[in-house]
Amino acid sequence: MHYFITGTDTDCGKTLVTLGFMQLCRERGLSTAGLKPVAAGALRTREGLLNSDALAIQEQCDPPLDYATVNPYCFEAGVAPHLAAALTGQRIELDLLENRYRELASSHQAVVVEGVGGWKVPLNEEQDSADLCRRLGLPVVLVVGLRLGCINHSLLTVESIQASGAPLLGWVANHIDANMALAEDNIQTLKRRIKAPLLGRIPRLDNPRADTVSTYLSLPVAATEC
Ligand SMILES: Nc1ncnc2c1ncn2[C@@H]1O[C@H](COP(=O)(O)OP(=O)(O)OP(=O)(O)O)[C@@H](O)[C@H]1O
Ligand SMILES: [Mg+2]
Repeated sequence: MHYFITGTDTDCGKTLVTLGFMQLCRERGLSTAGLKPVAAGALRTREGLLNSDALAIQEQCDPPLDYATVNPYCFEAGVAPHLAAALTGQRIELDLLENRYRELASSHQAVVVEGVGGWKVPLNEEQDSADLCRRLGLPVVLVVGLRLGCINHSLLTVESIQASGAPLLGWVANHIDANMALAEDNIQTLKRRIKAPLLGRIPRLDNPRADTVSTYLSLPVAATEC
């Protein structure tokens, strides 16, 4: 059960869905790792730079993993990842990320990788998040943050995922905007246009936690064979 979680945008719910899937894998008794390959936006602490998404993912790992294993690249600035790296004189290397992923994949039954921002977010001058997914050879789950404009963002992302050759296992509708008009009609429109199953609808939650989110999600069927 190895997946790459991408989204229609930053802040659309990728971490929440990553945590929910990890919870479902753990409930099945699987050794479960999460990977946040690149984090931009971190606090300086005595233990070094720490990103809140990565900390939440680390907490869901079973058996436990070191922070640096869960989050190989962590940058302080909350800006586009390739720019955050450049600010510190670094370059994000897909070779390093692939090696880290392979180590986790060889030692865990389930690995959930949170993509970086949206599908085409640059990681360095030549490569982007889609290239990372292709390098890892992972099937994709798309998180749709339900807000005005999400239909266009979703369909463009699906087209690009398909063009990359990565299998799209399904998508998740996440109610990030409690006041969105015609949210259900938007979901129905997407259901008709996306040829992959809807794996869950996450309502706007007062307390978005892994064990709550997981109750709204199903693990992709094909992923059980990965
Ligand atoms: N269904 C929901 N109900 C309540 N809060 C939500 C919901 N979905 C997301 N959020 C909140 O919105 C914020 C963004 O969600 P999340 O961190 O999962 O997005 P992301 O796509 O991982 O963002 P990033 O691109 O920064 O990694 C978080 O504070 C999260 O708790
Ligand atoms: Mg996130």
